Amino acid sequence: MPGQKKILITRKLPDAVINRAQASYQATLNNNDEPYGVDQMIELAQEKDAVLCTLTNDMSRSVIERLPNSICAIATFSVGYEHIDLEAAKERGIIVTNTPGVLTEATADVALLLILGASRRAREGAAMITTDWSGWTPTQLMGLSMQAKRLGILGMGDIGRACALRARAFGMEIHYHNRTRLSPELEEGATYHETPEELLKVSDFLSLHCPLAPDTKNFLNEKRISLLPPNPVVINTARGPVIDDEALIAALKSGRVAAAGLDVFDGEPKLNPGYLDCKNAFLLPHLGSATIETRNAMGFTALDNLDAVFAGKEPPNKLV
Ligand code: DGY
Repeated sequence: MPGQKKILITRKLPDAVINRAQASYQATLNNNDEPYGVDQMIELAQEKDAVLCTLTNDMSRSVIERLPNSICAIATFSVGYEHIDLEAAKERGIIVTNTPGVLTEATADVALLLILGASRRAREGAAMITTDWSGWTPTQLMGLSMQAKRLGILGMGDIGRACALRARAFGMEIHYHNRTRLSPELEEGATYHETPEELLKVSDFLSLHCPLAPDTKNFLNEKRISLLPPNPVVINTARGPVIDDEALIAALKSGRVAAAGLDVFDGEPKLNPGYLDCKNAFLLPHLGSATIETRNAMGFTALDNLDAVFAGKEPPNKLV
């Protein structure tokens, strides 16, 4: 339609999202879902008004500086935005938006899946049943109970609190650290710790829910692992680089950490191969938000943001 805005959608998105995008925009699609290299993306962005990207697209300063002047918005199909240089976008007057809120429940569900999978040795069990299971025994694959254990949550935002809600139903005692202490209504009886280190000392289970930022990169290193109580279980649904992989792999191998449940990895999709040798690492391929309902909602939220930009309104999830 003449006058329709032109958008580049960098990855294959769910059908319902594509249908809506095509009804409102002249959308250039990536139907076979091959990740674009930077040059290809820049070429495809020519004469477009906006880019709807994902966390798999490099939107660092050098890339943003090469975007054509026609681009007025970058809408990421993600809550995380560490792949986008916000300052560089701001300098070019490009609005950047994300999709908070809609993936809270799905991600918290996966955190619980990881807590259970890691503590109940699901990786070993799933392997055993297809190889050498010789029947039930009283000592086979004994894991760790969640009941009455302390769950330490680093980052008590929406997802951290949704994880706490679920963990309470399993009888866990909730502890947390957050940049700012929550109100009593939001704490719901959780114990606040002034420093991350104090939290680690009581975390029988530790679940990471903080964003990736310079001060959280490699947060869980050898020194901090040493603060955890004996036999801890480490869960990560936040971002891979929050963990120092070599330190965690060494701790999983030595038994200092009993088990880990990981959905996100530094350098995805090439995870540190050391994890593959650790039977006590229960691993998922970044599935936190992977439900039909959630991925549709993420796409609709990204489109809501673009609709607002093109209507000259403040987008609901504007980062800059
Ligand atoms: C996000 O949106 O940042 C998530 O990691 C996607 O699952």
